[in-house]
Amino acid sequence: MEKIIDESIQGQSLNLDQKKENQRKLFIESYGCQMNFSDSEIVASILAKEGFNTTQNLEDADLVLVNTCSIRDKAEQTVRKRLQKYNAVKKINPGMKVGVLGCMAERLKSKFLEEEKIVDLVVGPDAYKDLPNLIEEVDAGRNAVNVILSKEETYGDISPVRLQSNGVSAFVSITRGCDNMCTFCVVPFTRGRERSRDPQSILQEIEELVNQNFKEITLLGQNVDSYLWYGGGLKKDFVKASDFQKATAVNFAKLLDMVAEKFPKIRLRFTTSNPQDMTLDVINIMAKHKNICKYIHLPIQSGSDRILKEMNRLHTRQEYFELINNIKKIIPECAISQDIITGFPTETEEDHQDTLSLMEYVKYEYGFMFAYSERPGTLAERKLEDDVPYDTKKRRLAEIIALQRSHSTYRHEGYVGKTIEILIEKESKKSDMHWSGRNTQNIVAVFPKGDYKVGDFVMVRIDECTSATLLGEAVEYSDNN
Ligand code: SAH
Ligand code: F3S
Repeated sequence: MEKIIDESIQGQSLNLDQKKENQRKLFIESYGCQMNFSDSEIVASILAKEGFNTTQNLEDADLVLVNTCSIRDKAEQTVRKRLQKYNAVKKINPGMKVGVLGCMAERLKSKFLEEEKIVDLVVGPDAYKDLPNLIEEVDAGRNAVNVILSKEETYGDISPVRLQSNGVSAFVSITRGCDNMCTFCVVPFTRGRERSRDPQSILQEIEELVNQNFKEITLLGQNVDSYLWYGGGLKKDFVKASDFQKATAVNFAKLLDMVAEKFPKIRLRFTTSNPQDMTLDVINIMAKHKNICKYIHLPIQSGSDRILKEMNRLHTRQEYFELINNIKKIIPECAISQDIITGFPTETEEDHQDTLSLMEYVKYEYGFMFAYSERPGTLAERKLEDDVPYDTKKRRLAEIIALQRSHSTYRHEGYVGKTIEILIEKESKKSDMHWSGRNTQNIVAVFPKGDYKVGDFVMVRIDECTSATLLGEAVEYSDNN
C-alpha cells in the first residue's frame, strides 16, 4: 500500500513555526491491547521532538491521536463513538486536528477519511516515524495517510515517553507483527509480518527504566515465545540467514535469561504466549530466575480439537495439557490465564462442553473471554459462515465466565492464611486508605497503606479473598527492596 496524501481536502492550517516555539499540545489515547499503549508511548516520544507536549485535556489539544483496535467489532464501535466526541469538541476548538493510529487505521486505510469526516490523518502501526512529515501535510491543509507495513521496523531506537505511568511498571515491546494466521484474527493483517527487536536495544531500554526506578517490566509481543533475533528482518526469512547468523541467533529463552540475569532486582513478565511456540527452555528459564514472575498467559481459545483446527491453532487439546503438566511440574506455583472465544463458526454444544471440561482440568487463575466477532478479511470470514446464533454465543460466554469466576475464587482461596510478596503499584480504586499491587502470579492484592509507598515490595498476609482480589495486611518489607 502506497503512502497517500490527499490534496483535495483543504483544512484549516496551523502556523507550524509559531506553534513549535509555543509547544503544541498533543492529546493521545489508546484502545485495545498493551502493544497499543506501548506504541502510543513511542508516538509521544517521536512527537516530543517536534515540539508536542502531551495534555490530559481534550479541549486544549492542537492534535488528537487515537490509537485504535480492530480485534472485535465492539472495539471499533468504541473508537467510532470517540470520534463523535472529538467532533463535538472541534466545534469549540476548530483548529484541532484528528489522527487515527493503529489497527483500524491499517484496516480501513484512506477509507477512514471518507467514512469519518473528522479525521485528518491515518497512520498504520509501522509508519509512526513518518508522523512529523504527515503532520506537516496536515498543517498545510491536506489530509495524510501512511499505512505501509514494514519488514524491519521495531522502533528499537526510540526511547518511549512513559504516559500516565505509575513509575513502577512499564511495557517493553520485543516483537512486532504476527505470522500465526489464526483464522479469526485480524492482527496479522493490521500489524504485518513478525519481526524481532535487537536484544541490545531491549537491554538498553530496560536499563533506562531501572535508572528511573521502575520495578517491573513486561516484555510485549503478539507472540513473544516466537522471538528470534538474527540481525534483523522478518522471522520467516530466518531460513535464508547465514550460518553465522544462525549460530549467534537469540531466541526467547535466551533473551529472558539475559534480561533476568542482568537486572536481578527487576520483576520480569512477558505476554502473550501462544502455546504452540512455548518451549520447555522458556519454562526452565522461568524456574531458574527468582525475578521472572511465575505467571503465564496462555490462550487456548477452545477446548475442542476440531475447533482448534478450524482456528488454525497449531496444537491439540492433548498437547496443551502436556504443556500445562510440564509447567506445573517445573514451576508448581505458576499461575496460568486464558483467552477463550465462544461461538466460533460451526461450534456445537459438544465443542462448548470440551471447552468447559478443559477449563475444569486447568482451573485457570484468570481469563479473558469473548463472543466470536467476525472480522472482515480474515480466513474465517472468507471461508466459514458466522453460524452460531448471537444468543447461543452469549449463553456459552456466560457459562465460561461463571466457571472461570469459580476457578479464580478457588485459586485465590489457596492464598488465604499465607504471607506473600506484593509490589505496590497504586491506590486501590475502592479506597484511598488502601494500596493495590500484584504478587508474582499476577493476582491483585489490596491492603491498608500503613507507612508503605508505591514501588515498595512488601510481605502481605492474606486474610480473605474474592474472585477478583486478595485482601490482607502488610506485615513487613520484603528483602527485594
Ligand atoms: N497474541 C495476541 C492475541 C491478540 S488478540 C496477544 O498478544 O494478545 C487477544 C485475544 O482476542 C485472542 O487471544 C482471542 O481470544 C481474542 N480474539 C481475537 N480475535 C477475535 C475475534 N475475531 N472475535 C473474538 N475474540 C477474538
Ligand atoms: Fe492473532 Fe493468533 Fe497472532 S490470535 S495475534 S494471529 S497468535
